[in-house]
Amino acid sequence: MKKLLAAVLTGVMCASLLTACGGSAPAASASTEAASVAAAGSESAPAEAAADSVLNKDTLIVGTNAAFPPFEYAGADGTPDGFDIALIKAVGEKIGKNIEVKDMEFDSLVASIGNKIDVAIAGMTVTDERKNMVDFSDPYYEAVQNVIVVKGSEISTADDLKGKNIGVQLGTTGDFIASDVEGAQVSQYNKGVDAVNDLLNGRVDCVILDTNPAKEFVSQHADELTALEGDGFGFETENYAIAMPKGDAALVEAVNGALKELKEDGTFDALVAEYINNGEVPEAEEASEEASTEAASEESSEAASTEAASTEAE
Ligand code: ARG
Repeated sequence: MKKLLAAVLTGVMCASLLTACGGSAPAASASTEAASVAAAGSESAPAEAAADSVLNKDTLIVGTNAAFPPFEYAGADGTPDGFDIALIKAVGEKIGKNIEVKDMEFDSLVASIGNKIDVAIAGMTVTDERKNMVDFSDPYYEAVQNVIVVKGSEISTADDLKGKNIGVQLGTTGDFIASDVEGAQVSQYNKGVDAVNDLLNGRVDCVILDTNPAKEFVSQHADELTALEGDGFGFETENYAIAMPKGDAALVEAVNGALKELKEDGTFDALVAEYINNGEVPEAEEASEEASTEAASEESSEAASTEAASTEAE
């Protein structure tokens, strides 16, 4: 009820102060929008969305590449799960949209936005090149590339990478970095884990991969492999963000509003703790979470199933 009142008040304020809300639509349409936004239970959606805005859809098709733990991976039932999946479902809940997740090759995500998918969440780093094709939300996570090597490897500096055979996931920032290394041969894989397997097999000399998945893959072969922090190699800090169609300002505003609310209300930190920092959440804690019962609702991708979905992966 509070939400409804707030949204209606916002509508009233928008109607009387149109420019402040960034719009030029007639007052009547602004307040109508506000009313429908309130009905969807959202505080984030802006008062106006262009006719072709993704916000006019009830269900957002979200592309990911579920081979990038802990951000996305195939859950127990085979459907994508992970931090990003939980985050985008929480965003969907905030902006009153159903979320349908589509697993695809990482390399085809950006080009699929606006046709096969509406948005993408995939531990995707904001880069200038990608910004030419899509708009990004505010960043939600920081990462740096790691260099995974076999224990005892001579590789420990940027110089050591020269002339080496470097394994990467195709189309990732690790791929771009490797391609810039003098004399290096770059072996591109559809999945990071395949690059890691070839490192174990001796087919590549090292693998360049984002921090968290690198640590996760290395932990599965802790006797043989180690992940070196990329800042020692001069790699820059990267920012993950949600990619959206270019020019859909209302969508960007709504998604950023939702991210902000999720940070303020503690949801974001809870997801970081659950998926990234602890890995495992004690049973007792899971049980105390509200929507932890249903496994079936994950199918329907209802926004409210975020908790259930994350529980299922354990
Ligand atoms: N952060 C890197 C990039 O944007 C790698 C992301 C890979 N993500 C994935 N879901 N496979 O290029």
